[in-house]
Amino acid sequence: MNFLLPINIDTMPTTNIKRIAVFTSGGDAPGMNAAIRAVVRTAIYHGIEVFGIMQGYDGMINGIFQRLEAQDVGNIIHRGGTMLRSARSEEFRTIEGRQKAYNSLKSIDIDACIGIGGNGTFTGAMLFSREFDMPFIGLPGTIDNDLYGTDCTIGFDTAINTATSAMDKIRDTADSHNRLFFIEVMGRHSGFIALHSGIGVGAGSIFIPENPINCVQTLIQILKKGERRNKRVNLVVVAEGSACGGAMDVSAQVKAAVGSKYDIKVTVIGHLQRGGSPSCFDRVLASRLGFSAVEALIEGKSNVMVGLMDNRISYTPFEEAIKNDKPLDQDLVRMAEILSL
Ligand code: F6P
Repeated sequence: MNFLLPINIDTMPTTNIKRIAVFTSGGDAPGMNAAIRAVVRTAIYHGIEVFGIMQGYDGMINGIFQRLEAQDVGNIIHRGGTMLRSARSEEFRTIEGRQKAYNSLKSIDIDACIGIGGNGTFTGAMLFSREFDMPFIGLPGTIDNDLYGTDCTIGFDTAINTATSAMDKIRDTADSHNRLFFIEVMGRHSGFIALHSGIGVGAGSIFIPENPINCVQTLIQILKKGERRNKRVNLVVVAEGSACGGAMDVSAQVKAAVGSKYDIKVTVIGHLQRGGSPSCFDRVLASRLGFSAVEALIEGKSNVMVGLMDNRISYTPFEEAIKNDKPLDQDLVRMAEILSL
């Protein structure tokens, strides 16, 4: 690996930032560890010290810090979860909590922060950086892929692969017994996981939060049409926050409409989607974003989320990333409908 580091990394200060903190927050996502590793090693390369904050904003408030050296982030690139652990902090929502967090950071001379998480993480970061003098960079880490300003979030690719592989197994048994399965995937407010994994498994129908039309009636039409030409629909993918409810709700609505005509089963994949070894795509994405976050701080950027758009690094102000919804690709929605005919 020496070709990457031809000079002594300990004697390479290139910035006024001397010490940064990195943390993960909100729902964990596969690839967060790869991002932490990239942040730590890029910072060390530039002569910057790194502290990990344990348990997200709660750890920032309570001063739970851990100095991280290059070797501390060895052997984690392939691990799911987050070595820094995570939390959804209520206290950080208050100005008093954010003041405590600032005091903790200053007590160990932190010059800047990098937070890996989703919408809630960036809302906290935006408020914090308005109130206090602390450069802040965000990395999009959530399986939901629902962040404006990046084509992909860290963890999404792994989650859809996990969901797809679980549904492939369900298809085997569904097909053997001629059963109709309603499978619930994650996504309280967005249908990215449902749409992509649904296309990936060739689902008969996909229910998403973004689509408020009467999907149950549409599904019943699809089922009837299929019967006329001997097509069996085995899998219906339902986002947990679909416009018609979760998989239990949708299956109940279908039962209420058609009686016991179909042998219906419901599977909720749940938190299986959050864990597991990150895909290579997520590892590379997380490495690129972590690396770019440190370089962005060195260049003087702040209060932005580092993302990837059209395969290029992009910087989106927190305010924009939070305020804008990331729309589903309507071409994909249309294609999914046509391919399930
Ligand atoms: O935001 C990621 C996510 O996994 C969502 O898809 C899901 O709705 C939610 O987190 C579950 O959160 P928790 O683990 O706190 O129940």
